[in-house]
Amino acid sequence: MKINIKNNIWWVGKTDWDLRKFHGDEYSTHHGTTYNSYLIQEEKIVLVDTVWGKYTTEFLSNLSRETDLKKIDYIICNHGETDHSGALPALMDMIPGTPIYCTENGVKSLRGHYHKDWNYVTIKTGDRLSLGNGKELIFIQAPMLHWPDTMFCYLTQDNVLFSNDAFGQHYCSENLFNDLVNQEELYNEAIKYFANILTPFSHLVIRKIEEFVALNLPLDIICTSHGVIWRDDPMQIVKKYLEWSSGYQQDQITLIYDTMWDGTRIIAESIAKGIRLADEKVIVKVFNASNTDKNDIITEIFKSRLVVIGSPTINKGIMHSIAGLLELVRGLKMKNKKAISFGCHGWHNESVDLINEGLKQSGFELISEGIRVNWRPDESCVESLIETGRSLVTR
Ligand code: FEO
Repeated sequence: MKINIKNNIWWVGKTDWDLRKFHGDEYSTHHGTTYNSYLIQEEKIVLVDTVWGKYTTEFLSNLSRETDLKKIDYIICNHGETDHSGALPALMDMIPGTPIYCTENGVKSLRGHYHKDWNYVTIKTGDRLSLGNGKELIFIQAPMLHWPDTMFCYLTQDNVLFSNDAFGQHYCSENLFNDLVNQEELYNEAIKYFANILTPFSHLVIRKIEEFVALNLPLDIICTSHGVIWRDDPMQIVKKYLEWSSGYQQDQITLIYDTMWDGTRIIAESIAKGIRLADEKVIVKVFNASNTDKNDIITEIFKSRLVVIGSPTINKGIMHSIAGLLELVRGLKMKNKKAISFGCHGWHNESVDLINEGLKQSGFELISEGIRVNWRPDESCVESLIETGRSLVTR
């Protein structure tokens, strides 16, 4: 099925309602995803990106109903990751000489994945490709948004930006356009996508948006490679990206813990109670890392001004759910976050030091040496933890 985007631009991608994990097990996709591929039918016929290899047969079968594949003049590969390039090998077997427009790094990525010497045409920012009817594609390199090979392209006259992963969401919908879907779901998935994928490259997001704005190109639609197409006020997601890229935080304190015999859970809940008693307007959330989706926790950390992380000491270390979470956090390089650690211990007392180390490596500002409780908190300890919670409201 193809869906009209504007004039001679068509969506020819694949909705994937089935997907629950992406990048191996690194990213949860509660709402599935879409692989957005676009067909532009001007005097020249252009295919922008393809779909994940798993859906090659379905994709090519549908595409061949919309156009004679041999009539495709150009293929644009905005990004080599296989969720967008997966159908290329089969397609190129059918139309082997067709030029593939991509960056120099795109060639490395495509060669690396498929070991094929296709007819690559490398582009740099500002290069143009005429499609006839007075329309041109303008290429814009976008390294690290989110891979070194990534690029955008912009179709003149129709004023459409093909942004690949940027501004995307892992959000499957048959409705396809941003004005036709549930806004809360859409923005929950958009911020999760940013927090878990784009946060380390926030400074480049700002620079790329400024660069695009400086080109002074009118913008009517943003065609992403995942999730909805932004046709209603496309600048709304651009503005959100600027906000999320600039040390984003809400008035939220998030407590995350794992626990063996509930001692560390009691610490977390006592601190949370104190925060609530001191200021009912502060958003307080508590998560057990062992039974909560890790990417949802990352999103909550991204929204927080203060993060409180705890684990009891086990085998002179920390529980594996907290260790794994700290590793995810370290790679994301979030800015403007304060943190405090906590944990119960019995015979050995290493967990708080280890969590502190992880938080420091992540660039979080530690506001104390951490909260250590020997054995299970008793009544007076709980009172003291509630007072600690009260004090965190103003930190
Ligand atoms: Fe959607 Fe970076 O691939």
